Amino acid sequence: MSTPLPEERPAPVGLPLIHDSARRHCTGEALYIDDVPDFPDALHLALVTSPLAHARIGTIRAGRAADVPGFVALLTARDIPGKNDVGPIHPEPALAEDVADYVGCPIAAVAAETLAAAQAAAALVECDYAKLPPILSIREALAAKSFIGVPMLLTSGDAAAGLASAPHRLSGELEIGGQDHFYLETHIALAVPREAGEMTIYSSTQHPNEVQRKVAEVLGLPSAVVDVEVRRLGGGFGGKESQATIFAAIAALAARKLGRPAKLRLPRDADMAVSGKRHDFLIRYDVGFDGDGRILGLDIVLAARAGNVADLSPAVMTRALCHIDNCYYLPAVKATGYLCKTHTVSNTAFRGFGGPQGMIAIEAILDRVARNLGKPLQQVRRRNFYGVAPRDATPYGQTVDDNIAPELTERLLAAADLARRRDEIAAFNRTSPVLKRGLALVPVKFGIAFNNPIMNQGGALVHVYADGSVHLNHGGIEMGQGLFVKVAQVAAGVFGVDVGKVRLSATRTDKVPNTSATAASTGSDLNGMAAYRAAGEIRARMASVFAEKFGVPADDVRFAEGYVRHGNNAMRFEDLAKNCWVKRVSLSAAGFYRFPGVHWDQRSLKGKPFFYFAYGAAASEVAVDALTGETRVLRADVIHDCGESLNPAVDHGQIEGAYVQGLGWLTCEELWWAPDGALKTVGPSTYKIPGSRDVPPVFNVHILENAPSKAETIFRSKAVGEPPLMLAISAWLAIREAVAAIGTPGGEVTLDAPATPERVLKAIEARLQRPAADYPGAAWRALMPA
Ligand code: MTE
Ligand code: MOS
Repeated sequence: MSTPLPEERPAPVGLPLIHDSARRHCTGEALYIDDVPDFPDALHLALVTSPLAHARIGTIRAGRAADVPGFVALLTARDIPGKNDVGPIHPEPALAEDVADYVGCPIAAVAAETLAAAQAAAALVECDYAKLPPILSIREALAAKSFIGVPMLLTSGDAAAGLASAPHRLSGELEIGGQDHFYLETHIALAVPREAGEMTIYSSTQHPNEVQRKVAEVLGLPSAVVDVEVRRLGGGFGGKESQATIFAAIAALAARKLGRPAKLRLPRDADMAVSGKRHDFLIRYDVGFDGDGRILGLDIVLAARAGNVADLSPAVMTRALCHIDNCYYLPAVKATGYLCKTHTVSNTAFRGFGGPQGMIAIEAILDRVARNLGKPLQQVRRRNFYGVAPRDATPYGQTVDDNIAPELTERLLAAADLARRRDEIAAFNRTSPVLKRGLALVPVKFGIAFNNPIMNQGGALVHVYADGSVHLNHGGIEMGQGLFVKVAQVAAGVFGVDVGKVRLSATRTDKVPNTSATAASTGSDLNGMAAYRAAGEIRARMASVFAEKFGVPADDVRFAEGYVRHGNNAMRFEDLAKNCWVKRVSLSAAGFYRFPGVHWDQRSLKGKPFFYFAYGAAASEVAVDALTGETRVLRADVIHDCGESLNPAVDHGQIEGAYVQGLGWLTCEELWWAPDGALKTVGPSTYKIPGSRDVPPVFNVHILENAPSKAETIFRSKAVGEPPLMLAISAWLAIREAVAAIGTPGGEVTLDAPATPERVLKAIEARLQRPAADYPGAAWRALMPA
């Protein structure tokens, strides 16, 4: 159906409505899978995992586990009736068969009458391992050429010639740490066997369709007999885009084999050990530039730690390569992506999906270029921004035709009073030997759409009941981001009814089939438009019934404020619904939508992968304690582009949350592995996510007004889920700026990410040219006035 988008957005589209579950989240009434009362015959599962990073698996025996009261069964890969494959791109096992390839790798599961019994028994399961040599780090993998797939190469122009002709050149390295998703609800799946081999799976997944397909394959069943239901996730952040299939498949295997409902919920430490994270990256580059800092040539290598299997890593690297430009025109670039195959947990999607790693690389490079030339970073940025043709071409071939980054940053410079504050900070730093402040800005451009065009489709199913109430179902997953209320606003807007009339129902594979993951920030773009189309079709039928009844043209029938009107004729929406039912007119419709015009060639890494770009800019002011290396954001100012926001309250929350999550990635969250390959940061005592006190005390978030999307998106809104995470790069750049205030003016700042106190101290000591062997903080003497 092709109802054109009305120029005026109908209420409640665009209103700052509260998240539909906000109150229930607070009171605890919102149901998560583990809150649903157990079936009386439910089994509980616990994983048996490898203690070694790389080992051949011998016989797995229940041994003393069988003596634990409540023990029911031990399940291994041999019990799988279908294919032991849950991989999203390449075949990957749910349970390891011959080789365990990371510490934490699931090799079996124990089913028991209680969770405690399952966990106690799992610890007693016996297995003989034959140790094999592991490859753990990116550097080891690069040296051993241990890769997943062939290196990915993105080229545009002649990088070697650009570098050779450049008056200035710099080369260097940057390490970027990974990040645990730390969703509040850990991975969980409940599998319930039904009659005739049918199965219902309750899964905490961003991708119910993939859970359905993979569970069916594992069980050797057609997809049609497996239903997956998801009401909400207690956070996903990308961590449940592909990997929820592993746990759903294991639960389904137990349910199938034992004929009882089976639940697998990972305790936090197991979740952190067994599920993938944001990829850590090692960046190496050679950049050539002119005296103004304009980049003439860039040869850059992005090496990511993929872990034991591919999972989504090829797609993550693709997005990283497509974001090394950020907002800048690179006339000659050669970018090589290596997916390092290591004996560590397989890394996966995480908010930004490689984009943040690509973007921080170019920002670090520009920061170095600016310091090298002794010019302000913002001035160097101006020289490099995308502009008019030919300076509007991305390395991957898409034209940047909606660029607002230069204006956004200039607006932010003025709005946040950056020039004056910079002077103030310089004066402060001159008289403050220990506390140093820094201020930096970052512009963000983020491509919206899955790089893989197949995934850019969404579906919805809408029913209007004879009492006028509306049932809305679509393929998207609610994970806290506010997708459901936004799509409900669209449906309510089409029908001209209050949003409270729209019942939001759990996402189910038997209602809307073949959907994509709710990921790549496309949830409201895809499902909002699908719901718009489904509701529009029903409205058109209702308008015809109204038109016939009153003898008016159907085209001019209006739906607003709970009424249907034409001239002086009016009817309540519910009365018309009843009327349609009496007239035997269908009040149910499915809607479908795909992004138009996107295409992509994964071999050459060229095409138009993105439907449009979302933009933002942030300025962060930080304080650094040069004795302890601790940092704190004092103030952050953000201007963010949501197009014409569907719901500014929800979008505001997404911007704040993403910034703070990005801040965690770049400052306090550090994953640490022991030399044997065991992840030691498996809980909040050793892994520090930002807390409420890390939120900038002055946090000015502004949604750009009058900024309709140029692309024909749902009511000209733009995606907001991921892009603002990268605004936090401004805080990392500000820490570099504060560190630069220490020691002799000018010169380099060597700081990787995350900027933990340890790394900040190292960066300070490098500036003071103290031997690195000194104990941390030894530089303090050099800071004190003589
Ligand atoms: N916000 C909350 N509260 N919880 C989440 O899990 N996931 C993020 C983002 N915002 C997430 C979130 C990620 S990784 C993505 S891709 C988008 O939301 C997905 O939802 P959307 O497409 O509806 O924006
Ligand atoms: Mo988000 S990383 O695309 O789930």
